[in-house]
Amino acid sequence: MDAKTLHVDAGGGYDIVIEPGVLDRAGELIKAALPRAKKIFVLTDSNVGPIYGPGFVASLETRGFMVRTHVIPAGETSKCAASLVGIWSAMAAFGMTRSDGVAALGGGVVGDLAGLAASTILRGVDLVQMPTTLLSQVDSSVGGKTAIDLPEGKNLVGTFYQPRLVLMDPKVLSTLPLNVFMSGMAEVIKYGCIWDREFFDFLAKRPTRETLMADITHILYTCCDIKRQVVNEDEHDTGLRMILNFGHTLGHAYELAGDYVRWSHGEAVAAGMVTAATLGVRLGVTESDVPEKIESILAPLGLPTHIACDAECVERAVGVDKKGSGDHVTLILLEDIGRVKPLKIQKSDVTELLSGALGG
Ligand code: GLY
Repeated sequence: MDAKTLHVDAGGGYDIVIEPGVLDRAGELIKAALPRAKKIFVLTDSNVGPIYGPGFVASLETRGFMVRTHVIPAGETSKCAASLVGIWSAMAAFGMTRSDGVAALGGGVVGDLAGLAASTILRGVDLVQMPTTLLSQVDSSVGGKTAIDLPEGKNLVGTFYQPRLVLMDPKVLSTLPLNVFMSGMAEVIKYGCIWDREFFDFLAKRPTRETLMADITHILYTCCDIKRQVVNEDEHDTGLRMILNFGHTLGHAYELAGDYVRWSHGEAVAAGMVTAATLGVRLGVTESDVPEKIESILAPLGLPTHIACDAECVERAVGVDKKGSGDHVTLILLEDIGRVKPLKIQKSDVTELLSGALGG
């Protein structure tokens, strides 16, 4: 496994370092990226903290940083306002100044929370992302979206706040449960679907965790390179960035149908990509063999290709029942593998349009 670096222009500009073992030399790289910082506030969770926290903190302390570690319970329920208030208080008690920094060591929940806390405490301090799940490495750690959930819905409060550095250690993926690793693979495959047919074919030849891990640096690099190009062009999600939602509209409906418990985000996106492709074929937008190609890359990885869901969940997922939220929804479809085609449709047409694709 070799090392690679990418540069994102958005925000003040920052590097994504993809390197096996990079967590062991995190202190050195963070010192270079945050030269004025004396204190680093580390946010992690109860799964990741005990495994990777001590080595990471030691690496920071060796470089002279004062470190305070704040551990939240692992899981989506931590991504809430009460956790954020607890983090703000811990940051204040640590005596952080505006030249100090925040480091997120964990998956998407930790990264989103740390980002929101960093963007708001003292009106903004520097942030370093150290994503430890495949999903957060290829998606949430890059691009500057931060968020917490409200009882009314997921990711309803947040900011755009780019990190100063992203450190991605592929070795940490070896401690992920298989289903969590494969959930991340749904987002990896999404990049092949929307942007890069060659990458899709490359992934199709690697139908196991072992074969994927043998080329994981290249896989992380390719996904982050695509995401960085999209974010550089549309940092604030007003245009191109919507293509990253391929499979997500239906995916959100499937997550809702399973009360966010039955299906993980990646599993729901996997089936959502097949449904979007099937819909595209029905609309004459998508080549007829695309749904089968996506199914045959997902199935060997144990990812679902179809999830039962009623029209009400679809309507809620696209906001049909939300007053004043606009008349249209943009569905992300494909013309072919590697060629994306956003399609704006009336919300009132959504249910009818999707009933066939849902198998209803
Ligand atoms: N996760 C999609 C985005 O960053 O825009």
